[in-house]
Parts: sequence; C-alpha cells; structure tokens
Amino acid sequence: EYSQVIAIDGPSGSGKSTVAKELARALNVLYIDTGAMFRALGFFADQQKIDLTEGPGLTSFLNSIQVDYGVSPTVLIRINGTDLTEKIREHHVSKLASIISQLPSVRKYLLDFQRALALDKVCVMEGRDIGTVVFPNSFCKFFITASVDIRAIRRLKQLQEGGDNSITLEQIKDDVRKRDETDMNRVVAPLKKADDAMLLDTTDLNLADTINILSNEVK
Ligand code: C5P
Repeated sequence: EYSQVIAIDGPSGSGKSTVAKELARALNVLYIDTGAMFRALGFFADQQKIDLTEGPGLTSFLNSIQVDYGVSPTVLIRINGTDLTEKIREHHVSKLASIISQLPSVRKYLLDFQRALALDKVCVMEGRDIGTVVFPNSFCKFFITASVDIRAIRRLKQLQEGGDNSITLEQIKDDVRKRDETDMNRVVAPLKKADDAMLLDTTDLNLADTINILSNEVK
C-alpha cells in the first residue's frame, strides 16, 4: 500500500524548499518542512545547553519538549510554546541542525512526529530521508539537486533577503560542501536518492519549469 505523501529530498540549496512549497500550493495540500524541525531542535537544545551525545540528558530533553508545526500560510514552528520560526533561519542554525540530525534518538523522535503529522493526508514533505526512511512507500518521490555553485548563490540570496549580509559566497560554498559531506555520510538515514525517486537537476531549470515537471509527474 502506498502513502499519499509526495516526498522531496535533496541537498540544501537545490531549490527543493521553493519547489516543495510551490507544489503544495499548486495542489492545495499541506507543506511539511522537516528541515525546520531539525533546525528548531538544534536551536532549542543549544539554547538549553544540552550535551549533544546519546545519553540520559538527551533522552530527558526529548521527553521534555512539545513541538508544534503548522503552516499558516508560511511554516510556523514552536517548541514548548516558544515561536522559533524566525530564529531557525539564521545561518548558524544550519550547523546546529546538521549536528543534532546525526543523533539516532533525535531522528527517531522526529520520524514519529513526521509520520503522525502526515498520517492519512495528501501532503508534500521535504527533507533528506523522506523517500528512503520516513515514507519509503510514498507514491511519488523526487530527488532534487543542483551544482554546488548555483546552490551557494541561491543560499546567499536567501540570506541577504533575510537581511543577513555577514557572510561571503566563498564561506557559503564551503558550508554547503561540508554540510553535504556530513549529511551524505552519517550513519543513520543519510542523504541519498531512493531507487524509485525521480532525479531532477535544477542547475539550468527555472522554478516554473521545475514545478511543471513535478506536477505532471504527480498527476
Ligand atoms: O533543509 P534544511 O537545510 O533546513 O535542513 C537543515 C539540516 O537538517 C540539514 O543539513 C540536515 O542535516 C538536517 N535534516 C535531516 N533530515 C531531514 C531534514 C533536515 O537530517 N529530513
């Protein structure tokens, strides 16, 4: 039996967030950004000075949090009532997310959360392991990539639009490469194309064309 989740995976800056959001809007279904969840947990744990290794400290941290995810009309994420929506987009939070996402108990926690959120719904879920681990039985999977150069340029633009001018293109390229490396080589649920996912390289594609290709495939 197939799940009705449209799974979109790929590295950061591949354009998958923009594409996933637009696709969800075009289909009028829920958009689920799993990166936002790892970011929120990474940020919150850092704020609480949680030791980021497996152990009783991490377990009680996970038992002590209540995560709320919503879209109205943009992603809204809260932990224990605190709105983290803006905070999690800051550049340094990418790294916190990448670190915390390597911990098996954190992945398990969010896996359950993500499955519960999408239960019996048609939705678009984007991340790194949606087609491989979270919903391997998804009826429709995409793996979206683009060259490191174009991904870094897109990311820079995104940061600048958010008012962050503190970082150079070279630094971003470096971060992108490092994050790819960690995401693809971690032991639990590494970033990887599912065998049955459609591969789409958006280096030379604009948003409208990409959305067209995806919606046709979904239909
Ligand atoms: O997609 P985004 O850049 O917001 O994700 C931030 C980080 O969270 C990624 O670099 C990755 O380490 C982690 N992540 C993950 N699994 C997901 C989504 C995000 O490990 N499904």
